[in-house]
Amino acid sequence: MSNIIPVFLTGLCLLLQRPICCNGNKILVVPVDGSHWINMEVLLQELHSRGHDITVLRSAKSWYIPSKSSVYTAINVTMLEDEADMDYYNKMLRDVVECRRSSTFIQTFCQQYLITSMLGKGHAILARAGATMLDDSVFMKKLQDANFDLMLTDPGLTLGIILGSYLKLPMVFNVRWINTGEAHFTIAPSPISYVPVSGSELHDQMDFLERTKNMLHYLYSVAEQHFIINPAYSNLFQRYFPPGTDMLSLQRAADIWLVRTDFVFEFPRPTMPNVVYIGGFQCKKARPLPDELEAFMQSSGDHGVVVMSLGTLVSALPHDVTEAIAAAFAYLPQKVVWRFVGETPSSLGNNTLLVKWLPQNDLLGHPKTRAFVAHGGTNGMYEAIYHGVPVLGVPLLFDQFDNLHRLKLRGAARVVETKSLTKEDFLEALKDILETPSYLDNIQRLSQLHRDQPISPMDTAIFWTEYVIRNKGAATLHSAGFSLPWYSYFCLDVGVVIMAITAACICRPLWNKVIPSEWRGEWKVLLWIKRS
Ligand SMILES: *[C@@H]1O[C@H](CO)[C@@H](O)[C@H](O)[C@H]1NC(C)=O
Ligand SMILES: *[C@@H]1O[C@H](CO)[C@@H](O)[C@H](O)[C@H]1NC(C)=O
Repeated sequence: MSNIIPVFLTGLCLLLQRPICCNGNKILVVPVDGSHWINMEVLLQELHSRGHDITVLRSAKSWYIPSKSSVYTAINVTMLEDEADMDYYNKMLRDVVECRRSSTFIQTFCQQYLITSMLGKGHAILARAGATMLDDSVFMKKLQDANFDLMLTDPGLTLGIILGSYLKLPMVFNVRWINTGEAHFTIAPSPISYVPVSGSELHDQMDFLERTKNMLHYLYSVAEQHFIINPAYSNLFQRYFPPGTDMLSLQRAADIWLVRTDFVFEFPRPTMPNVVYIGGFQCKKARPLPDELEAFMQSSGDHGVVVMSLGTLVSALPHDVTEAIAAAFAYLPQKVVWRFVGETPSSLGNNTLLVKWLPQNDLLGHPKTRAFVAHGGTNGMYEAIYHGVPVLGVPLLFDQFDNLHRLKLRGAARVVETKSLTKEDFLEALKDILETPSYLDNIQRLSQLHRDQPISPMDTAIFWTEYVIRNKGAATLHSAGFSLPWYSYFCLDVGVVIMAITAACICRPLWNKVIPSEWRGEWKVLLWIKRS
């Protein structure tokens, strides 16, 4: 009897471990640092809980990706962070503020130009990092021998795409931003007449001038792809990939695109069978706050609390802007929680709590929260929609202007610009958000629509990730369109022939006069063949 118990226990342990060791698949993950990591991490936690074995490639100098985790095994490699640093974004912020002082038509192009200069440097670094990785035969052998079942990557940066393609792994993208803009512009047809190009700050109903602007932005982004992004990798592709490979072709070969978008937020537009929508998948029901923060929330009484966070990338707003915001907050009957790094503003009121980090999702889901002052990053926007909290936007960089524009058009947000921000402007906009009921009504309506889905975005993401593992790809969902040359894609060759024939028919009476009579017989025979 005494040795039955250990045997029984061993058996039980084996049984318990089975789903982990035998149903689990090996997933190689190349994430993007910063706020994108929040999206990847939440997906990795879910995949881990389903028994998958996860390996994450990260930079030894990573900002947010821990090297030790219970969810994954980390491997240090050379990445973008090794050569880029966060001050870069602060400098960029100053340049963007300069751009926004120019006329409305010009400023979006000015900003796109800033991003171009960043893209140029970034892709050169990434191509070098990619080459270093592929050159390292010991490291590559290790990856090959690991026999991964899937590459899961955020294609915002390109290392995962290069590595996954080289290892010939089925590939799933967790994506919103790729190349020169929003993911759809790479994978789906995007009619410029009603699909606003990323960075253009336009919407889906454009007048002639706006469509012209949209077209110019589109042409700019095509040029960027072909003259800035593709050349950065030409050397790498020549050495390691079949002839004709470029970044676009590798990206378009990815099996499933988990796109962090919901059409509650994004303008409706054409899509593709291998595009799966998971916008808001990181949002969860609010968990209880730490005691101190909860006490602060409760101390606000009926007035409630304003939550402010400007995201993970930018640490320093211009000093006068910070002072104006702090002074405006001091006038409010509400309390304020402000995620803030840097020198404490002198005009700070006693109703404002500065914190270095805040549990954003839990705060937005708190019943005392009345408004969200945000920079307009995608994560924050979806959390605001999910929890139904109206937004006062202070856009700083990248897609934030576009994101806030979308919420504003739906009557769920106001937007102020840092270039000319005064205490009065900020206070007026914030009071408007807090006191006009329509902002709350509109965002709660968006929230209700966003939650009204047959399957939660997270379950969708997991299903399709495992679908690709089960079926070793998703080839049946791939469009043949990408392999066509551009003139065939738009049927220009067919168009030219049809127009030529039409022109010939219309001009026939004229021809009859011109063409010698002995040829006319043959011409008639030809026409007869065509008719029958
Ligand atoms: C990876 O980098 C981290 C620092 O981010 C370091 O603590 C860790 O020791 C490194 N791991 C290896 C195996 O070098
Ligand atoms: C906060 O400041 C206001 C006016 O500046 C003052 O009336 C109030 O008593 C202060 N509250 C606390 C808790 O110090």
